[in-house]
Amino acid sequence: MSPFDVLLPRPAEVEPADGVFPLGPATALIGSLPAVEWLRAELRAATGLPLTESGVAVIAFSLDASLPAEGYRLEITPTAVWIRAGDETGALYAAQSLRQLLGPAAFRRSPVHSGQFELPCGVVLDRPRFGWRGCLLDVARHFLPRSDVFRFLDLMAAHKLNVLHLHLTDDQGWRMEIERYPRLTTIGAWRERSTVGHGKLGALDNRPHGGYYTKDDLREIVAYASARGITVVPEIDVPGHTQAAIAAYPELGNTGDQLGVWTGWGINPNVVNVSDETVKFFRTVFDEVVEVFPSEIICVGGDEVPLDQWSASPQARARMAEQGLTTEAQLHGWFIRQMAVHLAERGRRIIGWDEIAEVGDLPPGAIVASWRGEQAGVDAARAGHQVVMCPEQHVYLDHRQSDHPGEPIPVGYLSTLADVYAYEPVPAGLEASAAAQVLGAQAQLWTEHLDTPRRLDYAAFPRLSAFAEVVWSPAERDPEAFLRRLSDHHLPRLDALGVEYRPLDGPHPWQTRPGVPGLPR
Ligand code: ACM
Repeated sequence: MSPFDVLLPRPAEVEPADGVFPLGPATALIGSLPAVEWLRAELRAATGLPLTESGVAVIAFSLDASLPAEGYRLEITPTAVWIRAGDETGALYAAQSLRQLLGPAAFRRSPVHSGQFELPCGVVLDRPRFGWRGCLLDVARHFLPRSDVFRFLDLMAAHKLNVLHLHLTDDQGWRMEIERYPRLTTIGAWRERSTVGHGKLGALDNRPHGGYYTKDDLREIVAYASARGITVVPEIDVPGHTQAAIAAYPELGNTGDQLGVWTGWGINPNVVNVSDETVKFFRTVFDEVVEVFPSEIICVGGDEVPLDQWSASPQARARMAEQGLTTEAQLHGWFIRQMAVHLAERGRRIIGWDEIAEVGDLPPGAIVASWRGEQAGVDAARAGHQVVMCPEQHVYLDHRQSDHPGEPIPVGYLSTLADVYAYEPVPAGLEASAAAQVLGAQAQLWTEHLDTPRRLDYAAFPRLSAFAEVVWSPAERDPEAFLRRLSDHHLPRLDALGVEYRPLDGPHPWQTRPGVPGLPR
């Protein structure tokens, strides 16, 4: 057991040495990097120490181009701490590791610790295994107030995760202000009531739900994320999952009906039509999206598109004839390409759910998010496309965590902590050239049944901690050692941060939802 066995995700290499570096009033924190300012603010709050730029014992940060991207080298001696990082993001991860080495009290906002803070001597040499270490947050089904998004970003950063996939629109709500189309939020951002429990079994409450982010709110989220090494990939889901938009602008639909924002959960038959006006509408929406989000990669959704309304639509048939398409599914691909071409003209490329790989040629540079399993990712990688692995059988964190009778609203596949920890992002048997197309993996937090930040905490943690290790750490895994690190060192850190995670032996009584129906798969 080395004193570095507290680190989670586990670093690539460690070399323990004797001794400790004590933090005290004369400790200086130096280096002109954002990571230094972040660490100073966090540690001043938690330790009460001044950590100014001058002192006798230094913690010094600098960049070193010989280290890999996002990587760092942390050397702790009894008299000084030297941190070299491959880039600014690597410095942030070094700062996160350094905070972990100080113990759970370093995660508090005020000094509550009576003893001395100290770092164990030795060297940590660390770098991520994958470049895409993502988590999807569905703020469409249940809106998440901005302050809670900031908190979630802090938690992601503490786990060295680097992509927040923000699912901004769906049938049940539109959450991004679009100046050109204000009704998307005046009408589309709220619903009259919600289904409580699985979509097939739950009953409606009578409680309006809503909320949206202004463009400035989103700019603030992007900047806050960026300061923590996180890219926000926005998702505007088309051409399905669009009932909230159709409720706001009925001319986007196929039937002419005035729909409401959907109050159910599941796959929705109401998809947008394929008129020139509708294509133009969503191109304008994406113009406003790229104005706010600097991410090169923009998610266009593309999942779960029932074709019945297009089958019944003369307009859709005319579009198929015009484009020489023989199936409605190809129309789905055509719609996605209209968005992709427009985004490409603005220097962006798309990521889409794996259905986009089935409905026609993928646009150049498109990334496939393999969610219905691993096969779509395997096929896309072999065909030379980049992929992000998100299979629902493994990394859907809204799915049930156990067969415990108290598991709240148990939906989806059984995904225990051990299952998530055992997940391997590079599918077995994939040739090296195709494996190189796997950018990484992404955990999903869909929120049909996660209606509050407390429910999100329960679903996300500690499984997201296990996922962080899957995407950051070297491929070899030791489940028992992970569990020890988690229970002895990481859960106390989450406690210090006020995270209401699922206890390892089952939910607290107040985390259960008796009588609310789930539907296990
Ligand atoms: C999805 O879960 N519909 C991507």
